[in-house]
Amino acid sequence: MLMKVGYYQFRPLFGKVQHNLKKVVNALQSVKADLIVLPELAFTGYHFRDRNELKGLAEDPDSSLTVEVLVKLCQQKNMYLVTGFAEKSKDKLFNSSLLIGPLGVEHTYRKLHLFNEEMNLFDAGDIPLQINVVKDVKVGMLVCFDWVFPETMRVLTLQGAEVIAHPSNLVLSFCQEAMITRCLENRVFAITTNRFGSDKRPHGEIRFTGKSQIVGPGGVLIKRAASQREALFVTEIDPEQSHNKNITALNDLIADRRPEYYQDLMN
Ligand code: ACM
Repeated sequence: MLMKVGYYQFRPLFGKVQHNLKKVVNALQSVKADLIVLPELAFTGYHFRDRNELKGLAEDPDSSLTVEVLVKLCQQKNMYLVTGFAEKSKDKLFNSSLLIGPLGVEHTYRKLHLFNEEMNLFDAGDIPLQINVVKDVKVGMLVCFDWVFPETMRVLTLQGAEVIAHPSNLVLSFCQEAMITRCLENRVFAITTNRFGSDKRPHGEIRFTGKSQIVGPGGVLIKRAASQREALFVTEIDPEQSHNKNITALNDLIADRRPEYYQDLMN
């Protein structure tokens, strides 16, 4: 079964949750898709001054007006969203990714690998990697810097992931190219949605690299956005293409692994 997937690359304004939410809802009004991926921390922005400021902007998805609006949008359009989200859970704060559908939040993934200053802001993810079924398609979630740990995508692949949804706020220049290799070595689809622009705050400025992209199994770059421009892109993919793990007629990238020689990975 084919699936319509896409990304919406935009420039969230720091701290302007209502503005950013309106922007997303307006942009997606005319879209026809099964699954749209939004950037990391899509509604709050990224460059928090400190944990206290983050705490003021983070929301508990169970009582979040932002989530309520997104669920309504998914209901209206019979669509799913994977979005970055500053998550408050009791006294913890997570850099999360929510899978939202017409029935509500279906899964929360909490970024396992925090990047740089995020270490001083967020708690590290505490939920195992898992896939979720979205309209019969197996979707795994990562957040941004998780890409640099190849184990994350391999684990999701071993669980049967067909599509990886990857909300991002990329600042280094390596990820987009690296994801081509990740999709080559795992033979899955990956949707990396990045933001563009910068968060210019009194304590400094962080610039983001845009170039959101969809990559197919075998490392095929299906589409890449410009670096510093808004971009909404939807395409039809065949998730079943991810079932063929052969890189040559005689080499299956999953079956040919030699885990008995990979013991050090468990350390
Ligand atoms: C990042 O993980 N936001 C670079």
